[in-house]
Amino acid sequence: MIDLEHLVAEAQTRFAEAQDTTTLENQKAHYLGKTGVLTELLKGLGKLDPEARKTEGPRVNVAKQHIEQSLNARRQALADMQMNARLNAEAIDVTLPGRGRKRGGIHPVMRTWQRVEEIFGSMGFDVADGPEIETDWYNFTALNSPENHPARSMQDTFYVEGHDSTGKPLLLRTHTSPMQVRYARTHQPPIKVILPGRTYRVDSDATHSPMFHQVEGLWIDENISFADLKGVYTEFLKHFFETDDLVVRFRPSFFPFTEPSAEIDMMFESGPNKGRWLEISGSGQVHPTVVRNYGLDPERYIGFAFGSGLERLTMLRYSVNDLRLFYEGDLRFLKQFN
Ligand code: FA5
Ligand code: MG
Repeated sequence: MIDLEHLVAEAQTRFAEAQDTTTLENQKAHYLGKTGVLTELLKGLGKLDPEARKTEGPRVNVAKQHIEQSLNARRQALADMQMNARLNAEAIDVTLPGRGRKRGGIHPVMRTWQRVEEIFGSMGFDVADGPEIETDWYNFTALNSPENHPARSMQDTFYVEGHDSTGKPLLLRTHTSPMQVRYARTHQPPIKVILPGRTYRVDSDATHSPMFHQVEGLWIDENISFADLKGVYTEFLKHFFETDDLVVRFRPSFFPFTEPSAEIDMMFESGPNKGRWLEISGSGQVHPTVVRNYGLDPERYIGFAFGSGLERLTMLRYSVNDLRLFYEGDLRFLKQFN
């Protein structure tokens, strides 16, 4: 009788020792191959007498099954090992910090624009806008600017190619005031609106840039007074600067399209310009000639208008002393506002 238990145990040990499939398959050949130990045993069964064959046959077959089971188990174990090794080798470290995407932010002047719309919106003002390329009539004539007014000169105004229907040159609007006329000619009183937008002048220094932003305000009804202008504008400033402690003055001034007229100045309360005044707005009671150009009767309708610089409001809010910083695109500067 062959010691089959020993044979099975030996095969299991050899399989377990095989560290790769080639070795394992060679071991398999040793036991189960054409001339393998088990195969030879099975072949040898034929030479046994019938009695011995009856007892030995099943024993050899059971041993063969055990060896096959061990072989398959080891094959699976080696395949798993290989897979794990591969997974480890190809592993991606998902814990690495991402490269990130830089967050954009709202430009400080645009933030001012948004806040201005919100605050005046909460006071019942509508918001509208209009063209940046204007006709001479809307930008000057309708606003009662005489033909020889200095603002009309080439030194102050960007003229562009093209002419209006009367042959006058087109220009980049020098203020948002032409929108008073455009809006009032298409709406019925009471007119209560702000008209923010880009404006252009041949200007450049710490408080002037060639492209800047204004917000026009217009309130026209049967009895809107200069006191309303002061009340509304002061209320706006308190909300905008989030304080009741503002140093503001209405300084008598002149505009052809308002009478009386005032410029509104505010004092820097901190930063390098502390104690200095900065003009933020022109304003006044709309001139009767302009009300007539709105298509309205100046005997009946009266009200105020203002035109404020959004860069100037932004400068005061953040104590910025040179508005050109807003347009240099220097991220170190701009990041401070986000
Ligand atoms: C005007 O433009 C008038 N249209 C304002 C107005 C409207 C008066 C309605 C009466 C009634 P002024 O030129 O002062 O006025 O400009 C108004 C504001 O725009 C200034 O107070 C300032 O805040 C801003 N501003 C003017 N020029 C520039 C510039 N080059 N860069 C930045 N801000 C400017
Ligand atoms: Mg001014």
